[in-house]
Amino acid sequence: MLKQLALVFSLHLGILVTATPNFYSTMKTCPSFKSQSNFNINKIMGEWNLAMLFIDEPPEEHEDDSSCIKGNFKKINSTTFKQMWYITSSQYGYGAIIDLPTIITHSGDWTVTDPLGGHLQVKISNAIPDAHMLMTVCGTQHGKSVHLWTAVVTRKTPITQIDFLELSAKLMSQGFNINDNKMIMWNKC
Ligand SMILES: *[C@@H]1O[C@H](CO)[C@@H](O)[C@H](O)[C@H]1NC(C)=O
Repeated sequence: MLKQLALVFSLHLGILVTATPNFYSTMKTCPSFKSQSNFNINKIMGEWNLAMLFIDEPPEEHEDDSSCIKGNFKKINSTTFKQMWYITSSQYGYGAIIDLPTIITHSGDWTVTDPLGGHLQVKISNAIPDAHMLMTVCGTQHGKSVHLWTAVVTRKTPITQIDFLELSAKLMSQGFNINDNKMIMWNKC
């Protein structure tokens, strides 16, 4: 289930996660940091760009430099919104849209229904609605909550040097090291 799920997400997100047994056996437990709760959910609606992605076991063949991954968040009511993610590429135009119904538990804690009907937990550790947001996504494997990926999404890409330093510090405090090779970056989008 998790393998399929990761694959579906990966395909849609344009990331070639080669399904090595390793990838699935080394999944780390979901980080236990506290999510940010003092932001207005209305302010994070609208367009986002995927700027950085942290995966515990990085895909080895991510060489597609020409595509960007964009999101659009649309409010439905006080507890529900939709996340629509799609790929744009100068070469191929628009890719499939992945539509993720999202339930807001608290402003920084969401439950997402994936395309196969499973549920993912999203924790927002840092939200500056007009600039960027840090999203950690966890799934379930063998009854345990495991880390799938942590994403930096931005209103504008590429992110500024100051934002990069600030986000790096924040990620470091959550156990993600910018200097190791577990990061995928989109800096031309
Ligand atoms: C919000 O919309 C969802 C999906 O349409 C629905 O299931 C839910 O009951 C609604 N909640 C409120 C508070 O209106």
